[in-house]
Amino acid sequence: MQIKFYQEEEQVPLEMHKVRVVQKLFLRPVEERLQCIKEAGNNTFLLQNKDVFMDMITDSGVNAMSDNQVAAMSIADDSYAGSETCNRLIKALEDVFGTKYFLPAHQGRACENILAETFVKPGQFTLMNYHFTTTKAHVTRMGGSVIELVRPEGLIPDSDDPFKGNFDIPRMKQIIKELGAKNIAFVRIEAGTNLIGGQPVSLENMLEVAQICKENGIMSILDASLLQDNLYFMKMREPMCKDMSIKDIMHKLGKTMDIIYFSARKLSFSRGGAIISNNEDFILKMKEFIPLYEGFLTYGGMEVRSMEAMAVGLRETLDFEYISQGPQFIQYLVNELDKYGIPVVKPAGGLGAHINAGAIVPHVPQSQYPAAAFATALYIVSGVRGMERGTLSEQRNPDGSERYADMELVRLAMPRRVFTLSQVKYCADRVKWLYDNRELIGGLKWEDEPKVLRFFFGRLQPIGDWQEKLAAKFREDFGDSL
Ligand SMILES: Cc1ncc(COP(=O)(O)O)c(C=O)c1O
Repeated sequence: MQIKFYQEEEQVPLEMHKVRVVQKLFLRPVEERLQCIKEAGNNTFLLQNKDVFMDMITDSGVNAMSDNQVAAMSIADDSYAGSETCNRLIKALEDVFGTKYFLPAHQGRACENILAETFVKPGQFTLMNYHFTTTKAHVTRMGGSVIELVRPEGLIPDSDDPFKGNFDIPRMKQIIKELGAKNIAFVRIEAGTNLIGGQPVSLENMLEVAQICKENGIMSILDASLLQDNLYFMKMREPMCKDMSIKDIMHKLGKTMDIIYFSARKLSFSRGGAIISNNEDFILKMKEFIPLYEGFLTYGGMEVRSMEAMAVGLRETLDFEYISQGPQFIQYLVNELDKYGIPVVKPAGGLGAHINAGAIVPHVPQSQYPAAAFATALYIVSGVRGMERGTLSEQRNPDGSERYADMELVRLAMPRRVFTLSQVKYCADRVKWLYDNRELIGGLKWEDEPKVLRFFFGRLQPIGDWQEKLAAKFREDFGDSL
């Protein structure tokens, strides 16, 4: 719960933890930042962390661990087989989700690889509220395709819809009828829908989707990577969850879904990945791929210390104060941006703040990657590293044409318990300056475009000298300030 301040106007999220280990940050002058982004091929993924002031590219594997997680790491049992660490993790999963079976994997996409390899046959469809980059890449690699069923409201950037990640149930029923259940490999529910702004899915909607799957003999899979924030929103926004504990909700999901998988870089603030289920048959089908791709069944490519941190982190997910910090900080940043009139995805979701770059730079066509251009501009003027979540993050169509994204977003992820409020305020301030100077932002073009997951390592160039002009204007306005 948010702690109320006596002076109403001072209302800010109050951290329910204290910082005991710190890392020095560096803020380079704007001229050096301009040079750095050029050297990084105008791709924020290729920037060196030493050149970044606030790293808001992701919340994956970069959250601050608790003292109990760090302590647990020191008792990890490093045996290959029969590891006590593995037993402790299985027990934690059972306690938290109520599930019996577990397969380890080195991170979320490794779980997706195994799920796709086991269950997707060429020509089959997978239904999702929305795709995630790595999920879709694995499904298409196996010759399958993805159909997105998020309600149209989910794609409206500015709304007061509390659960924008929800499935469009009538459309789902219609699609199942049209395609035939046997042509559908599985239905995947993504909690805290990543690519549409970390927007949550209601428990009611999840349960309804699972029920339809059951009635049609289709497998239901929950991607719980972003479940932590989603749980916060269920508790805060959903009448059905008001009298349920976090554990009640997680157990309900564990009991209802055929399979749950997650990236432990997100859920549990550690590293690694897990596939869990109460259905032994499904697990047996996937099991042989673990030693083949990941590692033995007791660790699946994970480092044992991470597994100990995962076990503790999962239990900490049950603590409402722990899971509130992320969404409350994100809400604070979204409110600041909104106050300044900057188009931002609303209501505030999980994961981070999502700036609607498409609306800020309508003069940059989608073919010139407006969100990616905005992300480079933001780095130049602030040292803040965000991530493009627009056309650049899409895969091209099979015929090589661009698949234009529904929304051109720049994500400012909020690693949990990492930044202070004054840093978040600095970030909002620089976004405001950039917004006021948005006419200076131009487009980008490819220098080197990889065929798969191009946003990770592709290199681009600015079209014209707009970045130099932007840096010069910054220097003019800020004098000798960094
Ligand atoms: C919803 C979702 N699923 C899957 C993944 C993949 O997880 P990982 O990065 O651990 O491979 C992510 C990562 O961002 C995610 O957000």
